[in-house]
Amino acid sequence: MEPMEKEQTVTEQPKKRMLSGIQPSGDLHLGNYLGAIKNWADRVNEYECFYFMADMHTITVRQDPAELRKRSLNQLAQYIACGLDPEKNTLFLQSHVPAHAQLGWVLDCYTMFGELSRMTQFKDKSAKHKDNINAGLFTYPALMAADILLYQPDYVPVGEDQKQHVELTRDIAQRFNAIYGDVFKIPEPFIAKTGARIYGLSTPDAKMSKSVPEGCVFLMDDPDTIARKFKRAVTDSDTVNPVHFDRQNKPGVSNLMNIYATVTGETYEQIEAEFEGKGYGVFKPAVGEAVIEHLRPIREEAERLIKDKAYLHQVYEEGAQKASYVAGKTLRKVYKKIGFYQL
Ligand code: TYM
Repeated sequence: MEPMEKEQTVTEQPKKRMLSGIQPSGDLHLGNYLGAIKNWADRVNEYECFYFMADMHTITVRQDPAELRKRSLNQLAQYIACGLDPEKNTLFLQSHVPAHAQLGWVLDCYTMFGELSRMTQFKDKSAKHKDNINAGLFTYPALMAADILLYQPDYVPVGEDQKQHVELTRDIAQRFNAIYGDVFKIPEPFIAKTGARIYGLSTPDAKMSKSVPEGCVFLMDDPDTIARKFKRAVTDSDTVNPVHFDRQNKPGVSNLMNIYATVTGETYEQIEAEFEGKGYGVFKPAVGEAVIEHLRPIREEAERLIKDKAYLHQVYEEGAQKASYVAGKTLRKVYKKIGFYQL
């Protein structure tokens, strides 16, 4: 064997796998982007990646059918525009891969009532939608566990708020493996150092969410709208040392610093030095400008892609095929282990 060939066989290691998803229940916002998608896009060459639109999860809350259909396509365009190349990543729609529903049911039977009752997202959403506390809202984390475990990923890159669900997924997988042997890989949550929890610009004590649109920056917002939202961002009346990171006492400013740090790559010390002696009248528009410039190419590319429905449709077709192949393998293994009679 040639020395060159030898070296290749030593260094060639299979890539680790990443998987994550976002619900197309609203337009993508800066929290989704900085907490999740940016981390995915930054690692596309390092990992084998599966990213999907969690449309089955959205119906735990009533959706307008036409809107859901439209957003499912628009969200795919935005994933691609954020740098997720469909040639390198498997991009798909959850409802196109029936294995999610199939494994979801199985895992419902290995998830405890008490565990589901402790999920903060369930508590929050059932408080918000008192007239529709349906069974799906309650068992949602078992479906999310199925979404993940079907693909045997090493890492699940999510924002802070989804960590509890990934931890429950690990518990379910460990419980299942303890009975049937090594069926599932135990995945790790992958949470970035900055950007993992973006707060609302108008409500710096609550996470940024589409339900408070005036404090929520959407990826498709035009530059003037973004600039206006940042100029109106809630800060404080500190004139002595305004641009200074202190999550406890200066939540608004700390949130803006977190956003600025994540889009520019600067540290908090560098930001404090850059804005030393300057007030919020300078700082807030500067953060807005950095976000506008960061999002500009994404918005322009997404606007172009959204017009090409045939292309997006084809990406979904290919993604469904690739995802179904991987998911099917895990599902067959699970069915066999639990004793379902095979044809
Ligand atoms: P979802 O759709 O609410 O949010 C999608 C992703 O965006 C992150 N995120 C944020 N990060 C930082 N700051 C914020 N303000 C903020 N808001 C949202 C979320 O942490 C998440 O990473 N259950 C999931 C969807 C899902 C999923 C999965 C994720 C279904 N199956 C399997 C991973 C793996 C959800 O509702 O995320």
